[in-house]
Amino acid sequence: MISKPPGIEDVFPDTIARWNFVTDTAREVFRLFNIREIIIPVMECTEVFARGIGDDTDIVSKEMFTFEDRGGRSLTLRPEGTASVVRAYVENGDYNRLSSCKLFYIGPMFRAERPQKGRLRQFNQFGAEIFGSAHPYADFEAIASMDLIAKKLGLRSYTLFINSIGCPACRPAFISDLTQYYESKKSHLCPDCSRRLEKNPLRLLDCKVESCIALKHEAPVISGYLCPSCAKHYDELKTLLGEGAISYTENPLLVRGLDYYTRTTFEFVTGSTGQNAFAAGGRYDNLVETFGGKPTPAVGFAAGIERILILLEKTNISPTPLDVYIVHSGEKAFTFARKITKELRASGISSDLEAEAKGFKSQFKKADREHARLVVIIGEDELTTRTLSIKNMLTGTQESVQMDDAVMHIKRVSELISGRQQGL
Ligand code: HAM
Repeated sequence: MISKPPGIEDVFPDTIARWNFVTDTAREVFRLFNIREIIIPVMECTEVFARGIGDDTDIVSKEMFTFEDRGGRSLTLRPEGTASVVRAYVENGDYNRLSSCKLFYIGPMFRAERPQKGRLRQFNQFGAEIFGSAHPYADFEAIASMDLIAKKLGLRSYTLFINSIGCPACRPAFISDLTQYYESKKSHLCPDCSRRLEKNPLRLLDCKVESCIALKHEAPVISGYLCPSCAKHYDELKTLLGEGAISYTENPLLVRGLDYYTRTTFEFVTGSTGQNAFAAGGRYDNLVETFGGKPTPAVGFAAGIERILILLEKTNISPTPLDVYIVHSGEKAFTFARKITKELRASGISSDLEAEAKGFKSQFKKADREHARLVVIIGEDELTTRTLSIKNMLTGTQESVQMDDAVMHIKRVSELISGRQQGL
């Protein structure tokens, strides 16, 4: 047997109903917010992420799956979607010329992290990127769309943390004081943070090592350094969240693990995913320019589908049912079963049957496993009397119908049941 690599999961049909519930809900909310779908490549030139996310971040320095293609180019499996969407947005000049543009994506991302519950090497995100507005209302829309998705999914006990990490005008003074503070604690820092202190001191606030976490609480706080325009932007965002009845908690230590952020950062957090955040994002006003586009402010977020699935584990979501399963016995019955299956499928009713000769018991077991709503039974008795038995698997009731009327009848009953199940 060949096993899958660590941190990579298969998703079988039993989980797909839940999975589709998550992605369908995200799609529906994106439709409400006029956020349109983009499909971005799974691999990019490594430069896209090195430049976009930042060389000194954990993602770029430790977690990328990077390899050389046959032409000697360095390619990387995307660790996130934002840098790719920005690359695509800039490369397709028509979009960068639009005054504003709202895009979403759904798909797999790859990070060579230590696998554990809710932390995979191949995981899936849905995410949105809103280009063209520096106004806090764009930040509000990013947050509000994720909040609505969470609510529509029935997630309840989560906290939305927000922060502003300022802009290139006000952040240097903060970084300078932060560096000074950590210089005095240098001997207590983990090896990674000693390196971060030289290269990218903001990342010190992102460290998950116990001894470094303790040091954060005495560190200077960004809110005291925001320039008037960043402070105003942040205040306006809080007003908009209040107006939209979206509750939030301010967390001045929320800097996020990617370098492209300016001003707003946010995370949707719950204790029960195994990991903390199930969605996160922020503003990145300089990234489009970094990729050679015309200066374009932007904000976005991404959510981890597997982490949301962990939160939905206890929610009762029925697997996708099969309309009709046909149980048959004997060659003649099989011939008739094939005919009925074909007619049902042609009229939009999902139906299935066993090709190999099997006993009734094992066929009924299969019908159960396939979550069939109706089972049609064709045996020798039925062929002699030219009738079919139809069993409603939800109520257990059984009825007989004439073979000639069978397809019409099955179609009618099937539509009735599926309508009832959907509450129509
Ligand atoms: P991120 O915080 O790196 O942000 O990832 C967003 C979400 O992806 C996390 O909150 C988590 O739910 C999920 N996630 C991340 N890593 C893993 C993993 N190893 N296993 C399972 N789930 C994971 C970004 O990716 C940014 N691109 C978000 C963004 C969009 N910012 C602006 N626009």
